[in-house]
Amino acid sequence: MKRIGVLTSGGDASGMNPALRAVVRSAIVHGLEVIGIERGYEGLLNGWLKPLSLSSVGGIINRGGTILRTARSERFKTDEGLQTAAQTLHDNGIEGLVVIGGDGSFRGAVRLEEVSGVAVVGIPATIDNDIGGTEYTLGFDTALQVAMDAIDKIRDTADSFERIFVIEVMGRSRGFIAAAVGLAGGAEAILVPEIPFDPVQVCERLKQGMARGKRSAIIVTAEGAARAQEVATFVEMYLREEVRATVLGYTQRGGSPTATDRIMGARFGALAVDLLLQGQRGMMTAAHGDEVLAVPLRASWEQPRVLDESLLKLNEVLAS
Ligand code: F6P
Repeated sequence: MKRIGVLTSGGDASGMNPALRAVVRSAIVHGLEVIGIERGYEGLLNGWLKPLSLSSVGGIINRGGTILRTARSERFKTDEGLQTAAQTLHDNGIEGLVVIGGDGSFRGAVRLEEVSGVAVVGIPATIDNDIGGTEYTLGFDTALQVAMDAIDKIRDTADSFERIFVIEVMGRSRGFIAAAVGLAGGAEAILVPEIPFDPVQVCERLKQGMARGKRSAIIVTAEGAARAQEVATFVEMYLREEVRATVLGYTQRGGSPTATDRIMGARFGALAVDLLLQGQRGMMTAAHGDEVLAVPLRASWEQPRVLDESLLKLNEVLAS
C-alpha cells in the first residue's frame, strides 16, 4: 500500500482533528502518502482532494471541528454516487481509506468498500457516544465538559433566583449525554428516551425536594426524550413555580478537545493506519475498557449500545 485517503463525515465532533493528525503523521512515518478528502463523501463525488503533509496537520490538536470540513451527503447513498466515489478513489491511486464519523458514515463506508474494493477503516466520532461495538466515540467527553460547565453556570442563577431550570442536551435519539452530564451536574431529574417517564412523577419528586428545603432544581432532558420548553411549561403549570428552559444545542459540538478526546483521537488514528497496513478491511477502531482494538464496522449498527440505567438510579439517590 502506497497511498491512503482520509475524510471526516457527519456531525463534527471535537477529537476529529487530533484523530486526523494521528492518521496523517502515523501514515507518513510508515512511508505512506496521505490524501485529504474535503467535506466528507461529497469530496469524493466532486474531486475535492489535497495531499496532506506532516506540517499540514500542525497546530490542530487543540482545535474543535474538523479542518477537512464535513457534510452529510445524500447523493453518496445512491448507486450512481457510490460508483462515482469508487472511481475517484481509483483515479487517484487511493488504496485504503480512513473514515472518521458516525454509524451513518460507516454504513456508507461498508458499501463503498464493496463497490470499490478499496479497504476502509472507520474511527468512531460523534458527541452522542451511540455507536455500537465501541464504548467511546470522539467528541463525547468534550460535549460533556461543555454541557457540565453550562449546567454549573445555570445553577448559579437557579440558586440565586430560587428557580427551576430545564436544560436540553443533544444526543439525537439516545440519552448518553443526558445521563452522564445529569449525574455530573447534580441534576434533580434526568429525562432520557430509553426510559419512559411520567411528568407528574417528575414534578412530585421536585416537590418532595422542596419540602426538604431545596429552593432550586435542574432537570436535564435529552433532545430525544422531551423538548425543554414543553417540560418547562408542564412543570410551571403543575407546581405553579417559575421555570426557565435552556437549549444547549450546538455549543456541545464545538470547543477545544479535552485531554480524553485528544488521547483517544491519537490512539484511534494510529491504530487505523496500522489496520490498513496489516491488510484489514471493513474494520473500525474501538475502545473496550482501557484498550483500543479493531471490531467490524458492521458492529456499529448491528450491536446497538445499551444505556447504563444504573447511572440514572444513582442520580435519583444522590439528588435526594
Ligand atoms: O449526531 C450529533 C448531533 O449533534 C446530534 O446530537 C444532533 O441531534 C444532530 O447531530 C444535529 O444534526 P445537524 O448537525 O444535522 O443539525
